[in-house]
Amino acid sequence: MNNGLALTPTMGWLHWERFTCNTDCDADPQNCISEKLYMEMADMMVKDGWKDVGYEYVCIDDCWPSVTRDSQGRLQADPKRFPSGIKKLADYIHSKGLKLGIYADVGTQTCAGYPGSFGYYETDAATFAEWGVDLLKFDGCYMPQWTLLAEGYVNMSLALNKTGRSILYSCEWPLYEWQHQQPNYTAIQQTCNHWRNYADVFDSWSSVTGILDWTAFHQDLLVPVAGPGGWNDPDMLVIGNFGLSWDQQVTQMSLWAIMAAPLLMSNDLRDIDPRSRALLQNPHLIAINQDPLGKQGYRVAKVNGFEVWERPLSGGKLAVAVVNRQELGGPRRFPLLLATLINWKSCCPQCNITQVTPQYQELVSPEKCKPLSRMQAKKWLHYLSKEEAPDTVPTMWV
Ligand code: DGJ
Repeated sequence: MNNGLALTPTMGWLHWERFTCNTDCDADPQNCISEKLYMEMADMMVKDGWKDVGYEYVCIDDCWPSVTRDSQGRLQADPKRFPSGIKKLADYIHSKGLKLGIYADVGTQTCAGYPGSFGYYETDAATFAEWGVDLLKFDGCYMPQWTLLAEGYVNMSLALNKTGRSILYSCEWPLYEWQHQQPNYTAIQQTCNHWRNYADVFDSWSSVTGILDWTAFHQDLLVPVAGPGGWNDPDMLVIGNFGLSWDQQVTQMSLWAIMAAPLLMSNDLRDIDPRSRALLQNPHLIAINQDPLGKQGYRVAKVNGFEVWERPLSGGKLAVAVVNRQELGGPRRFPLLLATLINWKSCCPQCNITQVTPQYQELVSPEKCKPLSRMQAKKWLHYLSKEEAPDTVPTMWV
């Protein structure tokens, strides 16, 4: 959306994956959804350098409101868990130089059963603006009719705009519309600053690969609509939690950078492994993610259990990621020669490259494609399938 926000993908922290709908502050005061949780995360964001590298938004997800609206029909925070109220919380977050995100739902209830915004879009937008909220994540549960989704998301966008406050608009419109039809991505891009397309991320490798596979499968539709002001959102980073190995964490961070994804961590910043912290704060990966050209990357090839992804960057640079998708054995050697990457499909038909994207082909100027001789092609096929390459060929272990 062209509202001057999210010119590069949003960076911040969002509670859902790690803290879900934990409302039991008596039994679990440290981890329940309460003002204390967001204040502590904001403190950590400043103290541990997150803010300095670009993480800015502290975001509330589901389960923050009281189960009823107030006498004037306004949403209100649960009084026990948010005794100071959201306005005070926003003041606190702002005093740290950070921004506050909140959550609501386009339907009659949130997914966890709290009051939805259906019939209250203008009231809720005005309430959020008055509280000093900077981002709205708008979920899509309990829409009386799915055909009303588009209208609901557009009307909330208009209501936010009407408040006069800059509020970044994070949608889940396509995720809910896909259940019925292919969404209209032109309309979505005009309405939202980012949008969830696919299932919720869980703290597991199968969840991360599921998201990558779905995104690659739909990349011809998704990649062209991403750019400054509007991004595809593959959901939160789960780095620093329990479910991903070290290499899997590196993969999530790298591929989220390649996909120009919002970097919304869902982890416990009060207790995070220093290695995971360094990965999430890696300046090179953040620079790729935040590249001002704003082009989303895509998968260029699948070969022999490897995937090659790339993202065009400003200044004519190209970020390339190689993923070893084989779940048997250890790291494998991947022969890496960019010229060869560029020439792959057209120049090595024998290499069994199962996919090369149209975007990628556009980048390949015909004069760059010098077909390999039969002997060379045979050699490359051999390298790719046996993970062997002579010393003169640069390789990497993945
Ligand atoms: C579904 C969304 O996709 C999740 O990210 C989270 O917001 C939950 N709803 C909350 O109920």
